[in-house]
Amino acid sequence: MTRLGQAGLGAWGKNLARNFDDVADLVWLCDADEERRREFTARYPKARVTGDFDELLADPDLEGVVIATPVVTHYELARQALEAGKHVFVEKPPAMRAREMEELCELAEERDLVLMPGHLLLYHPAVNMLKRLVDTGDLGDVLCVYSNRQNLGVIRTHENALLSLGVHDLSVILYLLEEEPAEVWAHGNAFLNPGVEDIVFCYLRFPSGKIAHMHLSWLDPHKMRKITVVGREKMVVFDDMELERKVTIYDKAPWHPTATWGEWQTRSGDIFCPEVPNDEPLRLECTHYLELVRGNGDRRKPARDGLVVVQSLEQLQSSLVVAPA
Ligand SMILES: NC(=O)c1ccc[n+]([C@@H]2O[C@H](COP(=O)([O-])OP(=O)(O)OC[C@H]3O[C@@H](n4cnc5c(N)ncnc54)[C@H](O)[C@@H]3O)[C@@H](O)[C@H]2O)c1
Repeated sequence: MTRLGQAGLGAWGKNLARNFDDVADLVWLCDADEERRREFTARYPKARVTGDFDELLADPDLEGVVIATPVVTHYELARQALEAGKHVFVEKPPAMRAREMEELCELAEERDLVLMPGHLLLYHPAVNMLKRLVDTGDLGDVLCVYSNRQNLGVIRTHENALLSLGVHDLSVILYLLEEEPAEVWAHGNAFLNPGVEDIVFCYLRFPSGKIAHMHLSWLDPHKMRKITVVGREKMVVFDDMELERKVTIYDKAPWHPTATWGEWQTRSGDIFCPEVPNDEPLRLECTHYLELVRGNGDRRKPARDGLVVVQSLEQLQSSLVVAPA
């Protein structure tokens, strides 16, 4: 079994630890907080528990490190782990600046190590279904993708809605379209904590002319986790709040009947909800990381894809025009 260590045992870290403990040998656990360390010592009695990340890295038998600490710490911890020769799984985004992510990618490539960002949605069976619909041409040319990731809370104090929520949608939009944006704009405001935008609207335009939008907010009455893809022939919605109808395909589109001398009309056909496999995305994500560590699959791809996400995030962040209070 692959020997792993994990740093960051908080709200999300506990889900990663549960999964990695099932599919690998979770031999080290690390957290800066003593209370967390006590809790995890009781839960994982076979693992060694420490507050010192260096102690974990010094174990020559440790193959991989999982990082689930706050975003601001990711780059530094991932860099140290790669320099110590460990394969890295790091929660999203692995770095807050493109320059830092480039450095991590170079380190990983030089040492032939895995650097996998935690882009969970890429392992969601519904997102894979969207990707198939886009790639097979079922939807016709894709014109627009937009996402809604809104709720009342969780109100973060260190990372804004773009960094906290937007990374998920951005990773999916870039995965579906396989293009890097030519132009990006973000608008929003920090209503609750100074400097931490609670509501962010993002616009992206791609070289092919496709456009995308993201509405990101923790200051909203609706709990929405939705991605809509508008194609020339069909449209599809992935709604993660639905239990059974996660994906809905609308056979509706504009069309140009010859009898109307070029005026656009619309047509509406079947509305179809295919069955989406119920596999846990996090389990699939953890298993993929282990496969890469074991030498199966393209080791460099997750880091390279992650770099485009961080580059686009940085462009969006620097265009974020904050409205006057
Ligand atoms: N993929 C997803 O769907 C998803 C969902 C939620 C959170 N996340 C990501 O997971 C990460 C953690 O989020 P969370 O909600 O669990 O945060 P959290 O605050 O609940 O937990 C973070 C933990 O890291 C510990 N920590 C901080 N600095 C440390 C250091 N230098 N060394 C060791 N431990 C340290 C803290 O003591 C805390 O226990 C964030 O990057 C977040 O973006 C991902």
